[in-house]
Amino acid sequence: MLGEYVGSEQYARLLQRGQHSPERWLQFDAARMQADYNRRPFLVNHRLNEHPMFGIDALFDLARRLPARQVKFRRGDIAPDADFDASFARSGDGLTLEHLLAQFEPLHGYVCLNNPEQDALYRPHIESLLAELAAHTHPLDPHITWYSTYVFISAQGAVTPYHMDREMNFLLQIRGEKTVDLWDPSDPFIMNPAQKDRLLAYEGARPPYRPEFEERALHFSLRPGLGVHHPFIAPHRVWTHSNLSVSLAFTFRTRQSDRDTAAHQFNARLRRLGLKHPKPVGDSTWRDGAKALSLHALQRLRHPLHPAGH
Ligand SMILES: [Fe+2]
Repeated sequence: MLGEYVGSEQYARLLQRGQHSPERWLQFDAARMQADYNRRPFLVNHRLNEHPMFGIDALFDLARRLPARQVKFRRGDIAPDADFDASFARSGDGLTLEHLLAQFEPLHGYVCLNNPEQDALYRPHIESLLAELAAHTHPLDPHITWYSTYVFISAQGAVTPYHMDREMNFLLQIRGEKTVDLWDPSDPFIMNPAQKDRLLAYEGARPPYRPEFEERALHFSLRPGLGVHHPFIAPHRVWTHSNLSVSLAFTFRTRQSDRDTAAHQFNARLRRLGLKHPKPVGDSTWRDGAKALSLHALQRLRHPLHPAGH
């Protein structure tokens, strides 16, 4: 899996640093965080559009430096009915990263950089942001256990279709504009309990989009200095406009979201055993905790040498 786990000692150091850092790249509003974090999506402020490491030239240099497996790229002037995955350039397709970067806007380029934190030059900057993030989330959701970041760069008109991820996210717009539609992950019309259990147990396809969802979409218009919080597994859809767009996705999990994930996975097991309606995750903290512990105990029985949950 992409991303990195954060141990207890590392988290304590990050939190300490985030709470005392003179730098304030993330300017999240404490009252808004208190009211809405992980309950509903909301806009946040940041200053990453002023950060020298997130200028387009620095990011193109990063794209050239990262291992090829961490750089997904494609030209955007492709047939609208082209297969999305097949549209990414592969060796032999004739499009090189260097050519795309040199002709980025004429070719309507799209680049996704996976895990810039693995680059020696970017790691300290991403860790500083992680420290700031921990300082904001700690009072509400202590202990980040895992994180993974992505930089999206597109010349124009890039679309990311409806889907949901198995974590929380702050999507921070650095350059250009982007529209993000989000849906309430606790709305059973959008995702029912069985769909959520199966999503987190990696069983089958992700819960699908239906046109009836449109009237329940929450729309967010992002510009440089704005971001939007995605609560845990909140469905979303993203598109960029007619200008060069750069954004950073800061995705993460916490002890609480790990417990919820394990409780969903336990429910998925109960469903496989024939139980039609296990109690939904989210109704009772103690029951979810007990399910998470039971799942970890079962995993230890099966794989005694592996740490629980990993
Ligand atoms: Fe996503």
